[in-house]
Amino acid sequence: MQIVRSAGEMQEFSEAERRRGRCIAFVPTMGYFHQGHLNLMRIGRQRGDCLAVSIYVNPAQFAPAEDFEDYPRNFERDSRLAEEMGVDVIFTPDDREMYPEGYQTYVEVEGVTNNLCGISRPRFFRGVTTVCTKLFHIVKPHVTIFGKKDFQQYVTIKRMVRDLNMDIEVVGMDTTREPDGLAMSSRNVYLKPEDRKSALGLSRSLVLAEELYGKGERNARLILEKVRALITGYSHTEIDYARICDTKTIMDVERIEGECVLALAVLVGKTRLIDNHVFGEVLKIG
Ligand code: PAJ
Repeated sequence: MQIVRSAGEMQEFSEAERRRGRCIAFVPTMGYFHQGHLNLMRIGRQRGDCLAVSIYVNPAQFAPAEDFEDYPRNFERDSRLAEEMGVDVIFTPDDREMYPEGYQTYVEVEGVTNNLCGISRPRFFRGVTTVCTKLFHIVKPHVTIFGKKDFQQYVTIKRMVRDLNMDIEVVGMDTTREPDGLAMSSRNVYLKPEDRKSALGLSRSLVLAEELYGKGERNARLILEKVRALITGYSHTEIDYARICDTKTIMDVERIEGECVLALAVLVGKTRLIDNHVFGEVLKIG
């Protein structure tokens, strides 16, 4: 497994792979791997002849008051796990490589970023779409794998790739969960033991919502009332948003018709957790 820190070197590596007719699969990450990341790599391994993973905590997607400095990092462990997963190359640039002095170009996707995390984290998606565009130009993948745990991010990247004619297939992977239902996240390490119990409110409310949907309920407001009550029934929880949206437009719906997603962002203690469920899909919890 190679470890590459320079964009130019990474481009040369990828160009050589392409000349040999090899398909490049790419998993962008911010590191501190958990099973969710590893499952994306497993699919990448199956889809590509060459599997590239990036590890880069992207400052452009963090607001000043957010956890950029504290974001968990452990490159040694990550590179060991990547090697075990059969990764061929890790691209891990530093900030000067990605945003050198004088940097002034950003990529913005409009509609689908206007709701949910786009409201609570105003510059977040601009940072994500900018860094992913850069990473795509550097790694030159044929196929890239994203987790649907970050549902709005997945929809935004798909939109961007389509709108900008990027010749890349975007594959979405189901959310990997702890045995009790908690969606895996690098940020789960922030959870204090008492918060860890409250964090279960998110996945349990998804189960409740799917049950109501299964019984024929289609009124978004009624489902959301029950979801909110379940989550706030746990201590130290504060809902940032709980919304039901159309999966294509990410706009709120009143009635669940067509494909809709229940999207949650909840502050548990000091940790902001997100989770979601697309109605009618199998929910593998418990
Ligand atoms: P990060 O949070 O490290 O996530 C990297 C990828 O892993 C994303 O596609 C995310 O959706 C996926 N992922 C995270 N938790 C998951 C889980 N429990 N199950 C399945 N997939 C999961 O998302 C980012 O990094 C960044 O925004 C990035 C795209 C790298 C741009 O900086």
